[in-house]
Amino acid sequence: MDPRVAFVTGGASGLGRSIAGRLATDDFHVVIADISDADSASVVDEMHSTGGAGEWVHCDVGDIDSVRVAAEQITGTHGGVDLLVNNAGFDIPGFFLESDPRDWDSIVKVVMMGTLNCTFVLAPSIAERCRASGYGRIVNIASDAGRVGSMGEAAYSAAKGGVIAFSKSMARELARDRVTVNSVCPGPAETPMTDRIRQAPLGAKLMTQMEQVTPLKRLATPAEVAAIVSYFASDDAAFTTGQTVSISGGLSMHG
Ligand SMILES: NC(=O)c1ccc[n+]([C@@H]2O[C@H](COP(=O)([O-])OP(=O)(O)OC[C@H]3O[C@@H](n4cnc5c(N)ncnc54)[C@H](O)[C@@H]3O)[C@@H](O)[C@H]2O)c1
Repeated sequence: MDPRVAFVTGGASGLGRSIAGRLATDDFHVVIADISDADSASVVDEMHSTGGAGEWVHCDVGDIDSVRVAAEQITGTHGGVDLLVNNAGFDIPGFFLESDPRDWDSIVKVVMMGTLNCTFVLAPSIAERCRASGYGRIVNIASDAGRVGSMGEAAYSAAKGGVIAFSKSMARELARDRVTVNSVCPGPAETPMTDRIRQAPLGAKLMTQMEQVTPLKRLATPAEVAAIVSYFASDDAAFTTGQTVSISGGLSMHG
């Protein structure tokens, strides 16, 4: 049987890199869809060196035409996609009232519109394959910032809140095809993105405060986030849809 095909946006770094590695271990054929071709190629080399299967494709999730080209390339080769992980994202920390409106545009374009673009382009293929195989998954990497808000990350929080609401709506729309849609909300995790946030004036203070107020007193590891994605992507999670799970050491707790 051909392996299931996973399309992981932002898979060239940080959480996406770890998610890609975990899915390769779970026997997916993993497609890294990222703007950073060199880093994508290095993740694919890493996967191949550990016996995993995968490839990379250039994809700017904020540009629907770029997503269409990447999707056509992959569906042309593999006949379709079974799992979409909408992970690409970034933040520009700072107080909202001191921010540049152009920054909100770029954050929303990638974090929220990127999720909509990739879902719009790839969900028809996932749904079509799922109607035949019974397997189809979308996992969206949101953030605890989108559940409870985050000082210094207002536009980012708004975009992530949008991702969570979008996931629930798509879970309802795609249920008839048996495709599940769930959101993973990391709290602060050790990745290049948080390294960059630490370098910003407000960012270092923000990250220290985050660690102090987290009950388990540390940041998440990328592998811990990848493990939840692996669960949502698994056959065991076939009856779990529209859910939002925080991986944040207890930073936020929801009933
Ligand atoms: N690191 C954290 O603490 C944390 C916490 C909560 C949520 N998140 C979310 O997890 C996801 C991954 O974050 P990370 O920390 O691994 O970041 P990262 O910067 O390490 O990696 C992000 C990846 O996304 C890619 N990317 C950026 N813009 C893109 C675009 N337009 N199209 C395609 N790819 C693009 C980058 O090239 C990079 O490879 C993001 O959505 C982020 O918001 C991260």
